[in-house]
Amino acid sequence: MRTIDWNDESNSIVMIDQTLLPVEYRVIECKTLASLCEAIRSLRVRGAPALGAAGAFGIALAAELSSADDMDGLTRDLKVAAKTIKATRPTAVNLAWGVDRTINAISDAYDVDGIKDIVLAEAKNIADEDVETNKKLGKHGAKLLEDGDTVMTHCNAGRLACVDWGTALGVIRSAVEAGKDINVIACETRPLNQGGRITTWELMQDNIDVRLISDSMSGHVMSKGMVDKVIVGADRITGDAVFNKIGTYTHSVLAKEHEIPFYVAAPISTFDPDNWEDTVTIEQRDADELRFFKDVQIAPADVKVYNPAFDATPMENVTAVITEKGVFHPPFLLDEVIV
Ligand code: MRU
Repeated sequence: MRTIDWNDESNSIVMIDQTLLPVEYRVIECKTLASLCEAIRSLRVRGAPALGAAGAFGIALAAELSSADDMDGLTRDLKVAAKTIKATRPTAVNLAWGVDRTINAISDAYDVDGIKDIVLAEAKNIADEDVETNKKLGKHGAKLLEDGDTVMTHCNAGRLACVDWGTALGVIRSAVEAGKDINVIACETRPLNQGGRITTWELMQDNIDVRLISDSMSGHVMSKGMVDKVIVGADRITGDAVFNKIGTYTHSVLAKEHEIPFYVAAPISTFDPDNWEDTVTIEQRDADELRFFKDVQIAPADVKVYNPAFDATPMENVTAVITEKGVFHPPFLLDEVIV
């Protein structure tokens, strides 16, 4: 199934619970806004494009659950829901984008049922478009990969970070589909191990060759000539920087040092022309993510912790940004790409 979807029978959101992978594959249902927000905060659903769909389906769910019997009341309920959903995770711009696009669609509605139909249809469109966008992006990016390439990636920018196919891993999937032999090096991605748990799992499901390394090995493998290209996803792209999972910046510096192309694969919906590196809020995660590994204590229980979820890679370190509209080499103006 897709990473996240709408169940027409139960009028609820269904998703693969990514916190359980790779040990258990379980599909969960969110029937309330509170359960959706918990799922987003605890990373049961995660990855920028998947969060875009989660935000959109969240508005559809809020409409379904609202008891308002006039358009003003329902619109008010949806605006409150929008604020609640957006507050769950601040950095991935797609979450707010999915919420806003769905809310904006209600301007075409004439009555309460019309609003409910429109927001659900828009959320489903966002989910469908995500898959098409990633396939297009994948085809553009696949041209940058050569037969036999070893590609290093960080975190999970695969089908599980999207509705389907993936961005960084979508490029790899498209290259493999085009008949190229591609080997992947997946960085573990501490502290929540999206690379070790999810990227490896989903590539192995597709029989794509993958080797797991710890994050601290990236300089070593690059210096030994084991990496031909790096491809990562993005949570937000401003004019001057790419925000992605913590550790991405380090890989970009190392790639520059070793003259290895460093690509970012992301849909245009991840572009944020209204902000710059300095004005973006980086999500700070719970200290226990570093003090414990699941239930096992791995640091003093009261040690002070700094745990940002994302970092910013300056555009100078990026060889190209791969989008559904093509491949863009910095420096470029975001507005020119968005139009
Ligand atoms: O905290 P996460 O797991 O949501 O972080 C995800 C990432 O950083 C991904 O690389 C990014 O969202 C791109 S997903 C196509």
